[in-house]
Amino acid sequence: MSDRAAPVGVMDSGVGGLSVLAEIQQLLPNESLLYVADCGHVPYGEKSPEYIRQRCRHIAAFFQARGAKAMVLACNTATVAAVADLRALYPDWPLVGMEPAVKPAAAATRSGVVGVLATTGTLQSAKFAALLDRFASDVRVITQPCPGLVECIEAGDLHSPALRRLLADYLQPLLEAGCDTLILGCTHYPFLRPLLATMVPQDVTIIDTGAAVARQLQRLLDERGLLAEGPARSTCFWTSADPQNLRKILPLLWNKADSVQSFRL
Ligand code: DGL
Repeated sequence: MSDRAAPVGVMDSGVGGLSVLAEIQQLLPNESLLYVADCGHVPYGEKSPEYIRQRCRHIAAFFQARGAKAMVLACNTATVAAVADLRALYPDWPLVGMEPAVKPAAAATRSGVVGVLATTGTLQSAKFAALLDRFASDVRVITQPCPGLVECIEAGDLHSPALRRLLADYLQPLLEAGCDTLILGCTHYPFLRPLLATMVPQDVTIIDTGAAVARQLQRLLDERGLLAEGPARSTCFWTSADPQNLRKILPLLWNKADSVQSFRL
C-alpha cells in the first residue's frame, strides 16, 4: 500500500465522532477510513485524564499497526486529555484534535453572550481555559457540562421526552442570559441539532467544528503529499463494546451499512 493509499484513523469514546467522520468523508471522498468507537469505555466526559490518555494510546497503537497515515481525535474530551501525549509519542505522525469553536463563536455573537455545551472533562481542562483567554476576552461565555446526553445518543435516543427535558435544563441558563451563539463542544451533540433547533429561538446560531477538523486534516495530508488519489476502500468500524450494539444504531447516525468489528484492548 502506498503512503497516499493508507487509511486515516478516526476515534471517539463512542459514536459521537461519526459526526466528524461524515465531514471528512464529504470533503475527502477518496480517503479510506478506519473508525474506532471506544463504546466499552464511554463516556469519557467524567473519567480522569490519565484513564483517557491510556485509552488513546491503545487506539493510536491500533491505528499504527494498520498503517494509518494520520489520526483524528474526533472527541473534544480525548483531545484535551491526550493530544499532547500522542504528539510526544508520535512526533512525525499527522494528528488532528478538536476544540470547541470559541474563536468563531466570539466573532459571530451579536448579543455578546456565547454558550458552550460540552463534557465536564473538556470544560475543566487547562486547554479550554487557555482557549477562552485567547479568543473570548471580549464576550461573556457561559459553560454548561451536560452529563447524560452522551449516554442517550449512544443508546440511539435523539428525541425522547426524557432527553428533551434534560436538554431543556441545560439550555435554560444559557438562554436566560441572552446567549445568541451556542457552541457544541462535544462531537456527540451535532446529532441533537434537529432537536435543538426546536428548542432555541431561531436567531441562535449553533456552531460545531467537524467541518474545520476535516479541513485541517486535508491541509496536513496535502502538506505531506499524502492525499489519497482514490478510490477509497470501504470504511471499517471497530467497537470495544458488543459490535451488535453499534450495528443497531449505526443506520441512525451513518449513511450506509459498513462492517463492524470487535476492538479488544
Ligand atoms: N464525543 C466526546 C467529545 O467530543 C466525548 C463524549 C464522552 O464520552 O463523554 O467530547
